[in-house]
Amino acid sequence: MKARRVVVIEGEDAAPEAVRPTLALIDRLGLAIEWLHPPVGDAAWKTHRSGFPDEARQAIDASDATLFGATNGASAAALFYLRWGKGTYANVRPSRWMPGYNSPLRDPQGIDLIVVRENLEDLYVGIEGNLDRLVALGMRSGRMGQSLAELGPGKFAIKLITERGAERVIRFSFELARRRKARGSQGKLTVAAKHNVLPESDGLFIQTAARLAGEFPDIAFEVFFADDFARRIVQSPREIDVAVLPNMYGDLFSDEAAGIVGGLGLAPSGCYGDGYAYFESVHGSAPDIAGKNVINPTATILSAAMMLEYLELEEAARRLENAVERVYAKGEALTADQGGRASTTEFCDAVAREL
Ligand code: IPM
Ligand code: MN
Repeated sequence: MKARRVVVIEGEDAAPEAVRPTLALIDRLGLAIEWLHPPVGDAAWKTHRSGFPDEARQAIDASDATLFGATNGASAAALFYLRWGKGTYANVRPSRWMPGYNSPLRDPQGIDLIVVRENLEDLYVGIEGNLDRLVALGMRSGRMGQSLAELGPGKFAIKLITERGAERVIRFSFELARRRKARGSQGKLTVAAKHNVLPESDGLFIQTAARLAGEFPDIAFEVFFADDFARRIVQSPREIDVAVLPNMYGDLFSDEAAGIVGGLGLAPSGCYGDGYAYFESVHGSAPDIAGKNVINPTATILSAAMMLEYLELEEAARRLENAVERVYAKGEALTADQGGRASTTEFCDAVAREL
């Protein structure tokens, strides 16, 4: 079998402490994976005077996937290339409770939902500026009693939703719900936005979903306002199967969805485009615990399992996931965020024993 080439970007602060043992676990599975470690972030600043040198971009372009730790900003250029450069428009963020996960809910049993976050549009296009630019364009608010010119100095940010951008991530989500249904899930797609307040931009997202629903008669379809959806994640999470949201809501509510099963230490993600995918925990770089060997590597390990599945190494992906699941079920080697006292190394050793 042809070797898969995977770029590894460890990221900053505590993230490398989760990434390195994850690679060691995968190496125990004896797969044909070639790891590429191009210079990115702080190390690259020292040697290449750039946080994201050409060499790193070329390595990504020549690879099948990237495993990304988490960034405090130093590796952000690489992350943005993995998103916009590689067109990874669907950010899949599963929240599945497993016995042993330290959920704050009284009864987390059976929670198994996925937030699909649109990954390239919405406020994340990063088009911001001084208000006077809008004034010059003759833009006005139909709601505010004043003209923008009367407001004095200020800033704006653009929320951008395109037909193509909405359609591809929603289609992806319907197809994901269909694949899950074939494995026993509800077969439902939930879409949420603030189309009551933003009938043009969020309205387009919702209308696109309603139109595509006609192509997926086997998948139940429901629409919620995003604030109501936020409540439902906490109050009735078992009713959610796959949910698709514009970028910013997806960012916020995937953290919330991680919270109900036991926190960010457990939350994996994969970002998929038409020709590429990269995998990254939902959490940030955790600077407060850097260098202490206490970060919970579960999010990174499960992101790596999603990557193995993407690389068509399904059996290895299941082995890795099952090993993690058994460590939680036993509950003997858990990290502090899960109520245990194990170090990152002790947790990973326990996973290795279960492999
Ligand atoms: C995430 C993070 C990023 C985001 C940051 C690091 C830019 O919060 O991947 O969810 O907001 O997308
Ligand atoms: Mn986030």
